[in-house]
Amino acid sequence: MTSPRSPITKAVIPAAGLGTRFLPATKATPKEMLPVVDRPAIQYVVEEATSAGLTDVLMVTGRNKRPLEDHFDRNYELEEVLRAKGDEGRLSRVLESSALATVHYVRQGDPKGLGHAVACAEPHVGRQPFAVLLGDDLIDPRDPLLTRMTEVREQHGGSVVALLEVDPSQIHLYGCAGVEPTGVDAVVRVTGLVEKPERADAPSNYAVIGRYVLDPAVFDVLRETEPGRGGEIQLTDALQTLAGDPSRGGPVHGVVFRGRRYDTGDRADYLRSIVRLACEREDLGPDFRDWLMKYVNGEMREIE
Ligand code: G1P
Repeated sequence: MTSPRSPITKAVIPAAGLGTRFLPATKATPKEMLPVVDRPAIQYVVEEATSAGLTDVLMVTGRNKRPLEDHFDRNYELEEVLRAKGDEGRLSRVLESSALATVHYVRQGDPKGLGHAVACAEPHVGRQPFAVLLGDDLIDPRDPLLTRMTEVREQHGGSVVALLEVDPSQIHLYGCAGVEPTGVDAVVRVTGLVEKPERADAPSNYAVIGRYVLDPAVFDVLRETEPGRGGEIQLTDALQTLAGDPSRGGPVHGVVFRGRRYDTGDRADYLRSIVRLACEREDLGPDFRDWLMKYVNGEMREIE
């Protein structure tokens, strides 16, 4: 186990999924680039990482990586056009994404699951603790989850997962953690993990959501982790090994998240996320909320 105090500067973002739930939109565009109001979903995730002090970002991509690379790079032609027009507002928005972080890319090649994607980060991460952020979960910046998770890692060492209490009928959609209290509110010790259990087999209703702070020992464990649920190498299974044997890489703790989370994982959740975020925006919110109220109340004329 690395020293609990080793600073965490690296974030790993798996982005190799095929996005099949959004076809045909994702036929030629990575799902991470789908807009959430006016920014691609992936930008929210990178912003969250940098707000937590993680300025070195590694994206684990697949064959569709070009638009991601372009988004976090400069676009001089567009910048020139906006500058010539004196459109400073849009210019700064275009520059924003290229200045956020140092973004690196590695290809996953054969997509063999989340555990495999994380294992692909090892040459870049080395023997340092690091964070993993999954793009389907957007965490509201007003409820900083990663910062709390890095504090828990500093205190206890080992690895930290983010947990959400879900209705038991939903637990089969997530990794599920068996937990015991630590005496600190919203921090639990993880005693075991199981990937997407049937409701009857779930050790709790604590679901793992897509934020992890990991000890580099996870790489050693992943190397020997056999394919699990769905024939894929599961990060949950590697964490189960670590939780069961803390001598390998320290304990596993959970931070129970009670803040605002936007799930962009499937079409209905994606639409809900956009509506919620648009309603809360200072620039768009007031008009959009008015329109939405009328729409929902059936007060609209056809042409509005
Ligand atoms: C992945 C993980 C799962 C976790 C989920 C959170 O599953 O394997 O343990 O609960 O992310 O979003 P996926 O949703 O990618 O199938």
